[in-house]
Amino acid sequence: MIRLQRARRSSAWAPSPSRTNYPGEIRPAAEAPRVGRAYRGCMEPTRTAIVTGASRGLGLALARNLSARGWNVVVDARDPDALAAAHSSFAAPGRTVALAGDVADPLHRRALVAAASNLGGLHVLVNNASALGPSPLPPLAELDTAAFEAILATNTVAPLALIREALPLLEAASGRILNITSDAAVEGYEGWGGYGASKAALEQLSNVLAAERPGLRVYWVDPGDMRTQMHQEAFPGEDISDRPPPEESVPGLVDLIEGDRPSGRYQARALVAAGAAR
Ligand SMILES: NC(=O)c1ccc[n+]([C@@H]2O[C@H](COP(=O)([O-])OP(=O)(O)OC[C@H]3O[C@@H](n4cnc5c(N)ncnc54)[C@H](OP(=O)(O)O)[C@@H]3O)[C@@H](O)[C@H]2O)c1
Repeated sequence: MIRLQRARRSSAWAPSPSRTNYPGEIRPAAEAPRVGRAYRGCMEPTRTAIVTGASRGLGLALARNLSARGWNVVVDARDPDALAAAHSSFAAPGRTVALAGDVADPLHRRALVAAASNLGGLHVLVNNASALGPSPLPPLAELDTAAFEAILATNTVAPLALIREALPLLEAASGRILNITSDAAVEGYEGWGGYGASKAALEQLSNVLAAERPGLRVYWVDPGDMRTQMHQEAFPGEDISDRPPPEESVPGLVDLIEGDRPSGRYQARALVAAGAAR
């Protein structure tokens, strides 16, 4: 179901009349001023990233890290209350625009890109929002067709559609795309066929896009197992406390976002182990 929420009207979240409101926008009463990042004695222009699925888990950890590093971030998730709570935890100096909506909704995707444009452009698009499908994970012979289509719509079709929407801004900035994938895209884990196929398709889209658009950096990144809601849904009733928190995968993503690596497939925590310490 598409859940496109209107901007909140309570005094605590009243939109300021000073700039455009977007469908689904959630805004704090007082926004941090937009500033550049001091770097070696001069001001670096503020950069902007879209991070989808940023109300919890990896998306939240990454968006919070980028915001603290001075990036502007445009974030989304379907649940407006969870997104508002997450948004309010972000630190200045980066500016945050939070839009509640579904990445499978074309109008919502347009609003995400318009918000980035209004912040001055788009340097990085992180397609992180993802659907696991039914829990517990069914074998392929029992995977309902509508459920499979819903997984593909969120994990494969929506990321490409958002990339298409964002391409003019990304190309203008010689930008980067991070498509968050999984080892389930390349391994034959029982029960992971629907989700894994959607991620395998996302990986090949990324691979071809990297060849077609050499002016961009296109990364498809496996963050590794993480202690998140999605992981718990994949292993219902199991103790997943031995899995690392998503924050441990973030430095590898930041290395790709701020470093100089060529387009390709990466494992976030292998980058961390190799010395990325952002
Ligand atoms: N956790 C792992 O062990 C693991 C391993 C390998 C790869 N990954 C990948 O890592 C990424 C992050 O996973 P995670 O574990 O952090 O997941 P998570 O904890 O379930 O968080 C998913 C986030 O995406 C949002 N979201 C889901 N569907 C959406 C939609 N259609 N439109 C907009 N937002 C949506 C969720 O909020 P709403 O529900 O409110 O929309 C939430 O903010 C995913 O791409 C996942 O496939 C995870």
